[in-house]
Amino acid sequence: MTYAAIKGWGKCLPPAKLTNDDLATFLDTSDEWITSRTGMKERRISHVPVSELAYVACERALAAAGKTAQDVDLIVFGSTTFDELCPNAASNVQRMLGAERAACMDVNTACTSGMYSLTTATAMIKSGVVRSALVIGAEVISPIMDWKNRDVAVLFGDGAAALYLEASEQKAGVLAESLGCFGESRDILAVEGWGMKYANKGRVLGDAHWNFIGQEIFKKAVAGMAHGCESTLAKLNLTAEDISLVVPHQANLRIIDSLAKKLSLPSEKVFVNIEKYGNMSAATALVAFVEAIEQGDVEAHSHILIPAFGGGLTWSAHVVYFDLKPRAESTSNVQLPATNKSALTLVEEIIQATS
Ligand code: UT7
Repeated sequence: MTYAAIKGWGKCLPPAKLTNDDLATFLDTSDEWITSRTGMKERRISHVPVSELAYVACERALAAAGKTAQDVDLIVFGSTTFDELCPNAASNVQRMLGAERAACMDVNTACTSGMYSLTTATAMIKSGVVRSALVIGAEVISPIMDWKNRDVAVLFGDGAAALYLEASEQKAGVLAESLGCFGESRDILAVEGWGMKYANKGRVLGDAHWNFIGQEIFKKAVAGMAHGCESTLAKLNLTAEDISLVVPHQANLRIIDSLAKKLSLPSEKVFVNIEKYGNMSAATALVAFVEAIEQGDVEAHSHILIPAFGGGLTWSAHVVYFDLKPRAESTSNVQLPATNKSALTLVEEIIQATS
């Protein structure tokens, strides 16, 4: 049987940090409210387009795997905030990397896009269509954020992560997953003004109105991720006790705690980095997964459970297996272009451009 082993991993977080106190300078909110209701302290605001964040994350993933762009058969780019819809974003990453041999596709399932991309690439490797792939979860959501709406503006940030997968005869990579969508509730997390439906209707990019029914999304997030986890564990005949580490989507610390309680998972098995980045949508779960690997939290012979949730309302839960403790072969010296702009300045520029 062929598996799709995870051989490389990398992330790219833009340097500008927007703190809760920064948000309170232009929104009726406070550090106390945001921290106690979400667990978030700061998030990143990008000074470059999403493809550039993704490119740097891919260079780092390739270096960790000890591979070059010539080794890549497929690029799957998961995001909701593609720089352009035609041509696709994966082709831009292909060009930046010089990965001419790679097939290129984009996947949009909102916050779960990185995880659906992992499924797509894994399935194509397992079925023999390709032997290697770069999987991207990346988001630059700040330009289409409704910065006047405190219900959503405090929750999101920008970032990117990438994995390099390769065919392997050893048991490794995604062993099973469950995917689904609460389509009947798709309107409770929706961005009006963003898509072809609005073409020629006098809208400009950034003139986005977010429908965001937080408490309803909260309940669906816990229900969707819990159901996904239970169904994936059942497919593998595993229980929560067999899981070494849970790396959940980071939308709200209270959602993570509720999920852990529902699945009877002890908090020391749950990876949390929400305080640093907020919800980076498609990038969230993969950035958390990459950080868990980088911090040495992933051991040999470990099963990692990765539940995610997002607009759609899509949900997913993957179990990933490592036979050996993951170790990077090397590091990349590729960096983002420097900026001296603060996150607050970048946000003020967006507000000005769209008002
Ligand atoms: O990636 C998947 C997508 N996202 C999610 O899964 C998010 C799911 N939902 C949530 O995380 C939570 O529902 C929120 C964090 C969005 C909101 O937390 P909550 O505990 O459900 O608060 P709430 O909506 O019930 O609002 C409580 C109060 C309200 O005031 P009143 O009506 O009690 O006077 C809000 O107007 O908090 C107010 N409020 C705020 N106050 C200060 C709402 N947003 C803010 C804010 N700062 N940013």
